[in-house]
Amino acid sequence: MAQALLFLAFMTNMVYHGLGTIGVNWGTQATNQLPPDKVVKMLRDNGFDKLKLFEADERILRALIGTDIEVMLAIPNKMLQKMSEDPGAAASWVDANVTSYSYTGGINIKYVAVGNEPFLTAYNGSYLQCTLPALRNIQKALNHAGLGARVKVTVPFNADVYFSPDSNPVPSAGDFRPELRDITIEIIQFLYSNDAPFTVNTYPFLSLYYGGGYFPVDYAFFDGSNKPVRDNDLLYTNVFDANLDTLDWALTKAGYSGMQIIVGEVGWPTDGDKNANIQNAKRFNQGLIGHALSANGTPRRKGIIDIYLFSLIDENAKSVEPGTFERHWGLFEFDGKPKYDLDLSGLQENKGLVPVEDVKYLPKKWCVLNPRASDLEDLAKNIDYACSMSDCTALGYGSSCNNLSVQGNASYAFNMYYQVNNQQSWDCDFYGLAVETNEDPSDENCLFPVMIAYGSSMQLQQGLSDSLIRVIGGYIMVMSLLYLTIGDFQIHY
Ligand SMILES: *[C@@H]1O[C@H](CO)[C@@H](O)[C@H](O)[C@H]1NC(C)=O
Ligand SMILES: *[C@@H]1O[C@H](CO)[C@@H](O)[C@H](O)[C@H]1NC(C)=O
Ligand SMILES: *[C@@H]1O[C@H](CO)[C@@H](O)[C@H](O)[C@H]1NC(C)=O
Ligand SMILES: *[C@@H]1O[C@H](CO)[C@@H](O)[C@H](O)[C@H]1NC(C)=O
Repeated sequence: MAQALLFLAFMTNMVYHGLGTIGVNWGTQATNQLPPDKVVKMLRDNGFDKLKLFEADERILRALIGTDIEVMLAIPNKMLQKMSEDPGAAASWVDANVTSYSYTGGINIKYVAVGNEPFLTAYNGSYLQCTLPALRNIQKALNHAGLGARVKVTVPFNADVYFSPDSNPVPSAGDFRPELRDITIEIIQFLYSNDAPFTVNTYPFLSLYYGGGYFPVDYAFFDGSNKPVRDNDLLYTNVFDANLDTLDWALTKAGYSGMQIIVGEVGWPTDGDKNANIQNAKRFNQGLIGHALSANGTPRRKGIIDIYLFSLIDENAKSVEPGTFERHWGLFEFDGKPKYDLDLSGLQENKGLVPVEDVKYLPKKWCVLNPRASDLEDLAKNIDYACSMSDCTALGYGSSCNNLSVQGNASYAFNMYYQVNNQQSWDCDFYGLAVETNEDPSDENCLFPVMIAYGSSMQLQQGLSDSLIRVIGGYIMVMSLLYLTIGDFQIHY
């Protein structure tokens, strides 16, 4: 008994002392963004000590200097071609974005992610040929800079580079897709020989979303399933494990059974779909964290699972092509408030997350439908316009503001437009249909936000045109295709 207790204490200690820690993805496709230094402080306050960035955003990198946060820094897909053809371009990228920060007291850059899901079907094979040569050139540049041993390369793959056939949908039947097999294995060979990990993005939420009611809800979560999947002598109670073991089998069949695996993206959205809510997101993420840090591993692989949650903060300028949930993956709201309690140590202590501090907001003003407006003929047209230039994803079916009246919908749309335009009074007009107010129109479920006071012009950085397209079971999802420059839109009718 004493021994068992001691062992338990030891285990607890191990987890607590950072053998396993939780990473997070920080994406920046939002109109109004919190200052990076405030967000970095929040990351440290919460004990997030691994971070994944979709590109080398200079403002963010500067804010990370002097912290111990371990960073995975990505090179956007659209730079792959150039990097593959021109070793000099790879060398200058490494020089500017890795070497220059990799001094003592600088940034702990641990991985360079070359591309993001480059083998998605939706890219029509555009990156099939250039990914490996780009990877080679980046590795060469890292070696040349003397960083080869410390900074590892990887490629975050979409989970559908591997699969199990419909006729036998169990992990042991898994393999890489025939049309991608050779090129994927070549990359794996290269990663393996450089002691670098395989990275995969996986989304149980999308399995449920695309399951059309046939996917067992419990199987998306981590608290047991009454319909577990049996694979020979192994039992699967959640799709996350089944997915990772499908990958493990594919790697094993290719001769790389010991290959290190990182889960580069995994998470659950909180709005924009009937399954996207606070309760499910908390259930999933808390279950995931407990599972990942427990060292139980998957049925085929024991040990702590290396995960990066998707994502840190909601991004209101992402494409909604995959679904309106796409703007609601954050653990934190646009203003840095945590959406729910989450214990990152995995110990299930009902601990809250620390918010971003000292956030500045615009004044407490809203824009709503003018109750005196009489000519409502063009109302629908104006709502559509306001929504196309802002974010009305909370109005949809199953979402937090789905119960508003027609008038409520109009007010919601006008307000969102007004807020992302920094509450300029001329943006609350809509031909007299709209009017500013000091009275908060929010109700218990539906929040009419007041925007944060940090610019509204989404500065387009390199790489935002790269689509992050997710594919699940043959369904193609376009996630962030648009070159959105909301701040630059003119009002034209
Ligand atoms: C560093 O990364 C940024 C962001 O991806 C990119 O715009 C810039 O060109 C890179 N620097 C070099 C010298 O390649
Ligand atoms: C892929 O091909 C389809 C059909 O030809 C086209 O509509 C789409 O724009 C292409 N996508 C990319 C990313 O090139
Ligand atoms: C909307 O109204 C329905 C019926 O009154 C209720 O069941 C549902 O919970 C409400 N949803 C929200 C988001 O308020
Ligand atoms: C409000 O807008 C949403 C999203 O467009 C729509 O589903 C809903 O039916 C609208 N409500 C009313 C009362 O028109």
